[in-house]
Amino acid sequence: MNSDKHTRFSPGCLHGAVIAFCIALVIGGCGKQADDGPILIKFPHVTAPATPKGQAAERFKEIVEARLAGRVVVEVYPSGQLMSDDDSLDALVFGEVQMIAVSLSKLDRLTHRFQIFDLPFLFPDLATVERFQASPEGSVLLDAMVDKGILGLAFWHNGMKQFGGPVPMRSPMAAEGLKFRIMESDVLQAQVLQIGGNPQKMAFGEVYQALQTGAVDAQENTWSNMYSSKFYEVQDYLTETNHGYLGYLVAVNPDFWNSLPDDIRGELDDIVKEVAAWANEQSLIIDMEGRAKIIESGVSEVVTLTPDELTDWQDAMRPVWQKFEGNIGAELIAAALAARQSGAN
Ligand code: LMR
Repeated sequence: MNSDKHTRFSPGCLHGAVIAFCIALVIGGCGKQADDGPILIKFPHVTAPATPKGQAAERFKEIVEARLAGRVVVEVYPSGQLMSDDDSLDALVFGEVQMIAVSLSKLDRLTHRFQIFDLPFLFPDLATVERFQASPEGSVLLDAMVDKGILGLAFWHNGMKQFGGPVPMRSPMAAEGLKFRIMESDVLQAQVLQIGGNPQKMAFGEVYQALQTGAVDAQENTWSNMYSSKFYEVQDYLTETNHGYLGYLVAVNPDFWNSLPDDIRGELDDIVKEVAAWANEQSLIIDMEGRAKIIESGVSEVVTLTPDELTDWQDAMRPVWQKFEGNIGAELIAAALAARQSGAN
């Protein structure tokens, strides 16, 4: 792997079919930086440029290319145009891309620690998530996958998830028998089973068509994702449950990261953190803009719940916590509950 040099790959290294070939090349020197060229950071992601992640990735590029002009170039590939999230995890490990921002739910296949972010109704809002991520228990999660070739630098928010489907979901009973697209997470699978739905793990890029053709009936996502990827056009009702959190781990390959000159690594680290603070302020604004535009479109109906209806949802999904407590660790759940409590004080 790219153990000692910065990465500068040919486009031929970017497809799964040639992955084995690339590994050989990387080991043999494909990862070597051109002697006089800037360091290249390829940064693929799956959402549209106008989403919280899309905006944050662009801002990262702008700041890096201003402060490290001529030394670092950032190529952002939005909307899944380069690869899916799942492929990007492998590509990061193999050194084909240098930075990713993958939904925390999709890290499930690498570590169960991140399952905490998918527990339904654990985090009532983004401020609580932020307090948890800044806590000693939350911040060590950045390093949870270093042994697997993934080093977390920061967390970025997207927003809270809502349910979309062919019927208003005022009660969990409305979900019974519906096929739900979910991200690749066992907690989300259990959550849908808990309410009598049929969960289908599926890549983000396939969701619009699956809803349009009826391959799935329902899905959960944030307002900004449902607006920018047009899910609202193929869903009659979007029910405002705020039942779960969707956020990202901004990550690099530790070998790549440690191979950077100290001054560049330090500057990049500062920029990632600066952008995280900015992105986490913007995310709620962008999400609420998505909600407003969906309502304005009149294409699908936004359903808001009464406090009693919301309590029914919370009660129905609560058993999921017990199922994953062993995987996640009681101390992590306690830290999340403490973050929740400190917000209530
Ligand atoms: C999804 O697959 O629904 C999300 O992970 C997309 C994203 O990156 O926000």
